[in-house]
Amino acid sequence: MYSANKSVVLRIAIFFLTTQGVLCLRNAHMIIPEAVERGKTAVIKCIFELENEDLYQVKWYRNDEEFCRYAPRDVPPLKVFPVHGIEVVQEESDVETLTIKATKEARGLYTCEVSADAPSFFTLQVHGTLNIVDLPKSDPELNGLKRYYRPGMKLKAECISYDSMPAANLTFYINNEQAISHHVWSRVGSGENGDLWTAYSTMQYVVQKHHFVRGKIKIRCSAAIYSIYFRSHERVVEEEGAINTIAPLPETKEAIVFPINRISFKNGSVNGGMSYSTEYREVGILLIFTYVIK
Ligand SMILES: *[C@@H]1O[C@H](CO)[C@@H](O)[C@H](O)[C@H]1NC(C)=O
Ligand SMILES: *[C@@H]1O[C@H](CO)[C@@H](O)[C@H](O)[C@H]1NC(C)=O
Repeated sequence: MYSANKSVVLRIAIFFLTTQGVLCLRNAHMIIPEAVERGKTAVIKCIFELENEDLYQVKWYRNDEEFCRYAPRDVPPLKVFPVHGIEVVQEESDVETLTIKATKEARGLYTCEVSADAPSFFTLQVHGTLNIVDLPKSDPELNGLKRYYRPGMKLKAECISYDSMPAANLTFYINNEQAISHHVWSRVGSGENGDLWTAYSTMQYVVQKHHFVRGKIKIRCSAAIYSIYFRSHERVVEEEGAINTIAPLPETKEAIVFPINRISFKNGSVNGGMSYSTEYREVGILLIFTYVIK
């Protein structure tokens, strides 16, 4: 399990006091993206303060295996060692920046070890985890809803996010509130090719009168992968019979505000409701932040 932090700033400082007892190298921390899309580059920073002392070297490890070293007095200062899955972009790496290709094998625990020069040779280590992801090529699907419901009826919806690595986290919302966990069943199945996964989530509950807001229930499913991917699919179902007592919002107006960009007609099993996925993307990004912060 990886922590839910985003661009993690880890502050793990290990001080080795020398006989002189002087602290010169301090405040080391790593800035590392929680996840990077495969094929892009990952930029990891190792930040530290040196006072009245020179830098001896910065060493980088992935899962305890050293793959590069920056020593200002060496020519060239950056030396790269062959480690499986790690490709350092040398021209974009320097004393505090490490740039690597986001290959599938580049995931892991990264350690930066900074050492001050003689006489102290203070050494600090900081760590961070990098995940490499394959994002889904399509937005999540939301299937199985009827157009009309009335209190006492069972509502069942299935959300699917195809082919990603890792599988997306799916979350159901009813009128913008997260669905109760015991109404939701999730599973992960293998995707189209062996490395990818498809996430499925089914929500089922008995509709109550209070679920209808002005004769409608908004059902949304969102798919998230760490902090770098967030997409939602939303549908609106209506209360059977309520349409006559409450003036409905004109459909055309809704269509202008939220252009329809995907309607799936599954021969009766799914209504032709609106999908707001694109417009909700920005809202979604806000939501994911609040979601992640929680
Ligand atoms: C899914 O959610 C869990 C719990 O919040 C989190 O630890 C995990 O990193 C998430 N996975 C992805 C792929 O976003
Ligand atoms: C839906 O029904 C139509 C005819 O009513 C048929 O032509 C079409 O193939 C059906 N689609 C699916 C996905 O079953």
